[in-house]
Amino acid sequence: MYTKHLELIVLFTLLYSVEKIFSKFEFTNINCTSLDKDFDDIEYCYLKSVNRSYKYLSLKVNLLKTPVTKVKINGRLFKRFNGYRPFMFNITADFCRFMTNTNSNAVANYFFEFLKSHSNINHTCPYDHDLILDKLDVSFVNHHVTKVLPFPEGDYLLETHWIAYGIDRAVVKIYGTLS
Ligand SMILES: *[C@@H]1O[C@H](CO)[C@@H](O)[C@H](O)[C@H]1NC(C)=O
Ligand SMILES: *[C@@H]1O[C@H](CO)[C@@H](O)[C@H](O)[C@H]1NC(C)=O
Ligand SMILES: *[C@@H]1O[C@H](CO)[C@@H](O)[C@H](O)[C@H]1NC(C)=O
Ligand SMILES: *[C@@H]1O[C@H](CO)[C@@H](O)[C@H](O)[C@H]1NC(C)=O
Repeated sequence: MYTKHLELIVLFTLLYSVEKIFSKFEFTNINCTSLDKDFDDIEYCYLKSVNRSYKYLSLKVNLLKTPVTKVKINGRLFKRFNGYRPFMFNITADFCRFMTNTNSNAVANYFFEFLKSHSNINHTCPYDHDLILDKLDVSFVNHHVTKVLPFPEGDYLLETHWIAYGIDRAVVKIYGTLS
């Protein structure tokens, strides 16, 4: 009786750790919208599955009124319960100020990690060129959301609003599942 019990405990512990190890993030959708066609234009915005282990996200935004000297980013996280509900944060950061000291805002810095190694925005303002996020690898995101700061499982939507001179110019919605 006792050993049976112990076996069960061992089994559950094993299953639990296996589940932990295989906790996995997947992009499920992306939607980019320009809110001001005179200011910016989304050249492309897509998810691509090369094979089972290599999936990425690419995005290119043409800036039509350069140089851009004042940028804020609002990031809101939603988690799906019965429809997407606000979850954990809805914050706005002064991007130009943040870029002068990326350690000044922990949440912004966490998300900036996704961008800085895969984009051409890793520099201080102004921006006088198109913005490119090139092949943001899902396994990189995976590592970041499961190991660096573990999130509970579920369906998420990260909605980012790109604000220039106080006006919403574009919305990028990234949908993903953590299982
Ligand atoms: C993308 O989001 C916009 C609103 O932000 C919506 O009008 C549009 O229908 C969405 N496109 C798709 C393909 O879901
Ligand atoms: C997936 O594609 C990448 C890039 O083409 C390649 O390096 C990798 O070996 C492929 N992996 C598998 C499992 O086919
Ligand atoms: C997030 O904050 C903005 C203003 O900072 C507000 O307009 C918006 O309604 C909020 N959205 C959610 C989902 O909380
Ligand atoms: C981003 O820029 C900072 C400052 O210019 C630099 O120290 C850092 O190495 C850059 N990071 C990447 C991933 O390019």
